[in-house]
Amino acid sequence: MTVTHALETDVLRRQDPELADVLLAERERQATTLQLIAAENFTSPAVLAALGSTLANKYAEGYPGARHHGGCEIADVAERLAVERAKELFGAEHANVQAHSGSSAVLAAYAALLRPGDTVLALALPHGGHLTHGSPVNFSGRWFDFVGYGVDAESGLLDHDQVRALARAHRPKAIVCGSIAYPRHFDYAFFREVADEVGAYLIADAAHPIGLVAGGAAPSPVPYADIVCATTHKVLRGPRGGMILCGAELAGRVDRAVFPFTQGGAQMHTIAAKAVAFGEAATEAFAAYAHRVVANARALAAALAAEGLAVVTGGTDTHLITADPAPLGVDGRTARGRLAAAGMVLDCCALPHTDARGLRLGTAAVTTQGMGEREMPVVAGLMAGVLRGRAEPARVREDVRELTAAFPPYPR
Ligand SMILES: Cc1ncc(COP(=O)(O)O)c(C=O)c1O
Repeated sequence: MTVTHALETDVLRRQDPELADVLLAERERQATTLQLIAAENFTSPAVLAALGSTLANKYAEGYPGARHHGGCEIADVAERLAVERAKELFGAEHANVQAHSGSSAVLAAYAALLRPGDTVLALALPHGGHLTHGSPVNFSGRWFDFVGYGVDAESGLLDHDQVRALARAHRPKAIVCGSIAYPRHFDYAFFREVADEVGAYLIADAAHPIGLVAGGAAPSPVPYADIVCATTHKVLRGPRGGMILCGAELAGRVDRAVFPFTQGGAQMHTIAAKAVAFGEAATEAFAAYAHRVVANARALAAALAAEGLAVVTGGTDTHLITADPAPLGVDGRTARGRLAAAGMVLDCCALPHTDARGLRLGTAAVTTQGMGEREMPVVAGLMAGVLRGRAEPARVREDVRELTAAFPPYPR
């Protein structure tokens, strides 16, 4: 049964056509525009089926075999499957699959290891850190004393000397490595070495690269970090949610930090969907997909650079590209608006060492729908035409419609 078919014919359409129309409109939007947001992807119909299952009805506070609610025997099987598949996939001794989101996973990691007021060293927000890495509008910045490391002004690459110097100067209780926009791999061995030197915990916030890790297309933080936080909905292609991996000795602390410290009942339908996604991610097909994501990102970065955009760090090792459109005569915010009008959906992001905004984009979703290195220069060309003001967004919108029609994300 196709996704459209389910929406057209099921009880939702009969009972609430207004909302059914909204869901169909979103499905149409996703299918006819280019999803270039680096954090998004198209989950499989099997993942969507688990999300829409009756496990959504089940309350399951606690963990398999130790629940605060009755009737959890089936839910327990689902969660055990998700946990075992995650452990196997990432070679981790322990996995917690209950974190409701990437932010919840980071909150739980801090709760497991830190006390309010502790010092934490993390990538500064203007250099690509996430809100949970010390933003003053987030619990992290309110409850902990964050010190930010950054990237080199010239190369855009992480300034390892600064990381070491700041760690020595501030003796943080934890070091966080992870980013929303850094397009290169983190050197986890280096961060482990610095953490050990200053007696800090190492937390890898691998929300972005974890899907590439699953597919063997990026190095794994699991052997190096005390705790690995992740999302399940980016390259990993699962449901929206979080996950935590750690060694056996921190398992109890991590589990208690998730429930009962920061969360209530587990979302069992999402956990079932995570299990489905982990199963998919363990296949050869997914490994091939993960490598194609990186190949596409490299091709897209090269094509954008050839079109004149300033690609941060000169390219990418991952699914993610950060670029400054200023050489084409447009700032990041205006660029995002023009591109959206042409059906190309992406984000703005901070550009380190400047006040300007850049563009952040990724290839996870377009790769899922089957685009390859041949299509990437086409995408870059469409983008550049709009950014230079040479092509009318409304006209390019038709080109985008034509391109996406050849790569439907779901069977029609
Ligand atoms: C590095 C990093 N950490 C945490 C998160 C938070 O994930 P969520 O939006 O699921 O809370 C993100 C999301 O993009 C992220 O990139």
